[in-house]
Amino acid sequence: MSTQNSGSAVSSAVKRVTKKTLFNKKKRGEKFSCLTAYDAMTARLFDEAGIDLLLVGDSVANVVQGHETTIPVTLDEIIYHTRAVVRGASRSMIVADMPFMSYQVSVKEAFTNAGRLMKEGRAGAVKLEGGERVAESVQRMTEAGIPVMGHLGLTPQSINEFGSYRARGKDPEEAQQLKQDALILQQAGAFAVVLEKIPMELAKEVSASLEIPTIGIGAGPHCDGQILVYSDMLGITQDFNPRFVRKYLDLNTVMKSAVQHYIRDIAEGTFPSEDESY
Ligand code: KIV
Repeated sequence: MSTQNSGSAVSSAVKRVTKKTLFNKKKRGEKFSCLTAYDAMTARLFDEAGIDLLLVGDSVANVVQGHETTIPVTLDEIIYHTRAVVRGASRSMIVADMPFMSYQVSVKEAFTNAGRLMKEGRAGAVKLEGGERVAESVQRMTEAGIPVMGHLGLTPQSINEFGSYRARGKDPEEAQQLKQDALILQQAGAFAVVLEKIPMELAKEVSASLEIPTIGIGAGPHCDGQILVYSDMLGITQDFNPRFVRKYLDLNTVMKSAVQHYIRDIAEGTFPSEDESY
């Protein structure tokens, strides 16, 4: 049986990564790695590979549910996927994304919903998008013992406000606002901030100005940690090729050709063989 925290009554053989682990890594100048995960099978695999943090991102809406944006995924669905990821991973820190409209209505509702992700989802932390406008919620959550990760730069839940997934923080005004938001999140108690699709010099400046770690996705090499959507870096996704995604594998081709092989074997009557029969 695995536990989320080393202080639990049931001791775990493997010590779970916590916000303190990541904070100490930043202090030592050690980079850390994060990936998204949405199910127990991939969570176990990534955990065994040594990933520090697994994000049950609202990107589950795109990757698993087939939606065009992250807007439709619900809190109950994120809870469902978080429970699965927690069951699969024993070492990685598990962060659950707060979906669109689960934290925008009021501080009270945001607080209640973050609590559901922790209690029902068994997440180790939550993530939400935005800076100053979510600061009060972040403070309330952290005061109650809910670790919170911020998310600045390109914030996909605002797609209908911005109309595109272009890089953010390129003009001085946007860059200034982002630097301010990062400091506000830190002051409110956030334990880390995701910086998505912003110029690397801006990410470098923000990372140097914060005590808490930054986690980059399309934000260059100077962030303290990096995150990618797993289906992008494994090459399962075919039609999403921004320059920040390094494809470590062409799993789409590998999987498709394995399935074609299976189909062929069945058609030719070579599967199952006698050895594979009872
Ligand atoms: O939902 C997600 O996958 C994310 C990452 C891209 C940071 O928010």
